[in-house]
Formats: sequence, structure tokens, C-alpha cells
Amino acid sequence: MNRTPTLLDRYPAKMVSHLAKKLISRYTTDCSKLMDPFCGSGAILAAGLEHKISVSGVDINPYAVLLSKVKLRGFDSIVARDICSELVDRARSSRRTLSVKWLAKDYWFTPATIHKYEQLRYIASRMKLTRTCEGRAVLLAYALSVRVCSRADQRSPKPFISKAAIKRRKGKHFDPMKKIPSILNMLAELYAGRKSNLGHVKCLNLTTVRNAQNAIGSFSHVITSPPYINAQDYFRNFKLELHLLEGLLPFDIESINTLFIGTERGELLKHIKSEDIKAHRSLLPQLSKIEGTHPRQAAIIHRYLYDMGKAFDAVKSCLAPGGTFVIVCGDNLVGGYTIETWQLLNCLLENRGFVLFDSFGDDINRRYVPPKRNGHKGLIKQEVISAFRLTGSKGN
Ligand SMILES: C[S@@+](CC[C@H](N)C(=O)[O-])C[C@H]1O[C@@H](n2cnc3c(N)ncnc32)[C@H](O)[C@@H]1O
Repeated sequence: MNRTPTLLDRYPAKMVSHLAKKLISRYTTDCSKLMDPFCGSGAILAAGLEHKISVSGVDINPYAVLLSKVKLRGFDSIVARDICSELVDRARSSRRTLSVKWLAKDYWFTPATIHKYEQLRYIASRMKLTRTCEGRAVLLAYALSVRVCSRADQRSPKPFISKAAIKRRKGKHFDPMKKIPSILNMLAELYAGRKSNLGHVKCLNLTTVRNAQNAIGSFSHVITSPPYINAQDYFRNFKLELHLLEGLLPFDIESINTLFIGTERGELLKHIKSEDIKAHRSLLPQLSKIEGTHPRQAAIIHRYLYDMGKAFDAVKSCLAPGGTFVIVCGDNLVGGYTIETWQLLNCLLENRGFVLFDSFGDDINRRYVPPKRNGHKGLIKQEVISAFRLTGSKGN
């Protein structure tokens, strides 16, 4: 199969497809239902679906959920093209707009481009695109057009405006009403006609979900690559798309932007009690030193361990006794210290009754995570795959 074009499937720390396929073949021989609780672009779910496994994904990022849904569910290209033509035709002549509530919008978009987006938003909100697979495909084409029609440098997954981008894009008008139909055509080549009802994806914050089993379901297998500590700022990476999707999908930016696990945003230590702090220090002895030299970085680690603990509790409550939990994770560089994040997560799982039964390393080729952060270069060379089995009765 040809490679998926980057424009259509770019996602920070995306699992490479060869690894997703390998994990599915190695661990799902007896799988009845598979979940990826941090599904991102849906790479693991898509690999599971290829084996006709019933798959469910969760992610806090509404853009990721939209992308994964389109990828898994497919759509009818003729119906989607009709919806897209209606959207664009009605938007072109619309006097009404649905405003983008973002002060920085004029920095990222020309006034003409943002006006067109606001016309599109008004009509899209009237057409209730989220209700059908075809409507969601059109909404994904809209979301994928956002970066292309912005002033951002197109080379980077993180939106930034460079001198080169200013020079290259000067005097040009990027018209979303032309881009969206052409992006939809590309999406149709990849995903149209798939039509599967074995894939489900939900937008949820795993750290606060109540009664996860009711909300997500019960599973025999979990395979996932979780967020790292302060490595990817998922909110920042998707801020253009999210600001333009707000009002069209059921979320608001103010209530999600500090909830991405591993983030450096928000009041990091708000819910963390002194007993959590102690437990984290015994899990990671360097943490006391980091607290002295880099207090903010230490707060990020505390918050990460706290959030991952909550997320693991939620996932465990969805897993059948004897169920399999496969996790892919590497190291992080925080405050100048190398943190073996995969070891920390393995300890959190063992503390919850999971027993390791298999483990191997996978080299990361040409994947730098992240290029530069907090004054040092962080290069992750290897990820560790750890496979656990849940012992005891569920909910222990
Ligand atoms: C390493 S990425 C997963 C990438 C994915 N395996 C792929 O191939 O695209 C981690 C994901 O965790 C999600 N995430 C972060 N915090 C979360 C939370 N509180 N609840 C649910 N998902 C969260 C992020 O949005 C991100 O998509």
C-alpha cells in the first residue's frame, strides 16, 4: 500500500504503521475487543481493524477523534462530495458568519481567509456535519485545510511563522473554499468505501472519567502509546485546528487546554497531595533533586505521574480479568535529567496488579522527540514495548 500523504495523517508522536501492525499480530490472537485509550491518529485502531478486530479509541483531542473516526468508519465519497459542494456554495453567499473566538486569529490568517472560514463555520454549524460519516469527512477536510490556509510554515508539525514562510506565502490568498473540496478528494482516495462498524472513538479526558466501563466499554486487550512527560504539547500543535473547530464539535478550548497529560500548562500541583508527592519521589529518586534545581519541571513530572495513575485506573476498570495491556514508551529528558518514563509507567501498572509477560525494544528511525526543549536537545532513540496481563479480579 502507498504511504499516506503527510498532510492527511500528520500527528505528533504517531505510531509508525509497521510497529502498530507488529503489535497487533503479536498480541491479539485471542482478542475479542481492543481499546487504545490514547488513540491519537488511530494508527493502532486502524491496524486492529485490518484484522477484523472490534476496536475502540479514546482521546482528549477532538481533532484526533475526528481523524480516527473518519479513518475507521470510512464514508461514501459521492454523498460527501455533495455535502461539501452544499457547504461551500452556501458559505460563499452567506452574509452570516460564526466568529472564531480567538484573539490571535489575525496573526495566523489574512482577514480574507478568516472571513471565509467564518462563513464556512456558520453554514457548517447549520448542517450538523458531525451526525454522519460523510459529514465528518467534510469536517475533517475543513480541519485539514486550516494549516494549509494559514500563515504558518508548512514544514513543521508545530505551527510557527518563519521568515521563509512569510517570503514564500507573501501576496498569496489561500482560499479554504477551494482547498476543502480538493482535500476531501484526497481523503476519499484513502478512506472512502471502507464503511466499517467495528470501530468506535470517543472524546474523553481519561484522568477524570467517572465509571469508565460505562463510558468506554469492556475490553480483552489494550494497546497504546501514552503521552510522554512534557515532550509534545498537543494543544499547541493543534491550536489552529482546534480554534477553528470550536463551535463545530462539542468542546470548548478553555476547558481542555490544560488537561492534556504531560502538559506544562495550568496549575500543575492543584490536586496533588503530600502522599502523592512522596510516592512519586520513591518511584523516581532523582525527583527530589529536580525539585531543587528545576521546580517547574518537577511539577510537570508530579502531575504526569498523578494523571497517568488516574488514567491507568480508568483503563483497568475496562479490562477483563486476565486481559492484556501493551504499552509503548521511551525516555524523556527533563531538566537535564534522562527519565526512563517507560520504567515509571511499568511500575504504575505493576502497582495496579499487572504482571509483565513480554518486553522488547524498537529503534526509532529519524524520529526526533522533541528537537529542542528547555535549552537542550532531546533525542529518543528507542521505545520499549511492555506487555502486561491483569491478574486478580477486576477492580482490585
Ligand atoms: C503519543 S500520542 C498517541 C499517538 C497515537 N498512538 C498515534 O499513533 O497517533 C498520546 C495521545 O494522548 C492523548 N491524551 C493526552 N492527554 C489525554 C487525556 N487526559 N485523556 C485522553 N487522551 C489524552 C493526546 O491527545 C495524544 O493524542
